[in-house]
Amino acid sequence: TKPPVTVTVTGAAGTIGYAALFRVAAGAMLGRDQPVHLRLLELPAALGAAEGIAMELDDCALPQLASVEIFDDPRAAFDGVQQALLIGAKPRTKGMERADLLSANASVFSAQGKVLGEVAADDVRITVVGNPANTNAAIAARNAPDIPRERFSALTRLDHNRAIAQLAGRAEVPVTAISGITIWGNHSATQYPDIFHARAGELTGAALAADRDWLVDDFIPTVAQRGSAIIAARGASSAASAANGTIDHVRDWALGTAGDSWTSAAIVSPGVYGVPEGLVCSFPVRSDGTDWQIVEGLEINEFSRARIDASVAELQAEIAAVDAL
Ligand code: NAI
Repeated sequence: TKPPVTVTVTGAAGTIGYAALFRVAAGAMLGRDQPVHLRLLELPAALGAAEGIAMELDDCALPQLASVEIFDDPRAAFDGVQQALLIGAKPRTKGMERADLLSANASVFSAQGKVLGEVAADDVRITVVGNPANTNAAIAARNAPDIPRERFSALTRLDHNRAIAQLAGRAEVPVTAISGITIWGNHSATQYPDIFHARAGELTGAALAADRDWLVDDFIPTVAQRGSAIIAARGASSAASAANGTIDHVRDWALGTAGDSWTSAAIVSPGVYGVPEGLVCSFPVRSDGTDWQIVEGLEINEFSRARIDASVAELQAEIAAVDAL
């Protein structure tokens, strides 16, 4: 049998953490033949809840679960970590400005980045889910200069999966008939779900996009504002679907994407597709089971260019706001 992989989950007692941990422990993320050491990092106030989750994990008697440990100290929780899922973040509270949210999280993610740089395993992979996810990942990466920048990512897989579901509904095909979708930019309302290179069964995304009213007034806002729609309907933010996106993201990164197909992930820009170097931006990506590779050579039409640029401008403004503080 394989040696266990050490997985640290921050915000483990939160709603996404609760939805993710049992599937991670059951092998949905790294494979049913891959044992895991699970580390749960929480704030001191949530340690009791984390203890309860650890008891439930025990009670599943999962064959792949080699151990569960609970921490409130990031240094101990990240010591030797190979897969870091950074889900915990400071939530936006009433009356808080966006700049306050950015700066509160900048201090959390700069501290976590620094510690990861000091104690993580040599092969660590880092996935940031906590919002503002792209900028949090950029800040963590900056504070861990000894970790190669391509090891940092932020989650846009939930957005990608939302786009697949919406396109499948429009084209009246199963989700398995959809390919070639890309989420570009920020995990925010400015994100751009691009279907111009997509296929939906017998149809092309470009042909579907010819109905500009549907594309502009229905598809793009439905995908980009899905998070708010879920909050309005459920009274709580996306949790099971966010956990599912996180698991899909790490699984594809660690085990590889199939054939020519691609997915979306926010990674540190090497300066391609007009995205300035260093921003953590969502791109079309494939994985060989080790690193994400950006899908090159996609033609970007004027319609797409304007939307990608708008989301990239927002990413630049977020970093500038953090730098100004
Ligand atoms: P939640 O509020 O239910 O749970 C967050 C947990 O994180 C809490 O238990 C809290 O104690 C913990 N926490 C906060 N700061 C921490 C720190 N510094 N270290 C360790 N633990 C810490 O929130 P939920 O619903 O689980 O969401 C978590 C984050 O994920 C939020 O920032 C949310 O905006 C974001 N999110 C991101 C999505 C994406 O697609 N990128 C989708 C949905 C949510």
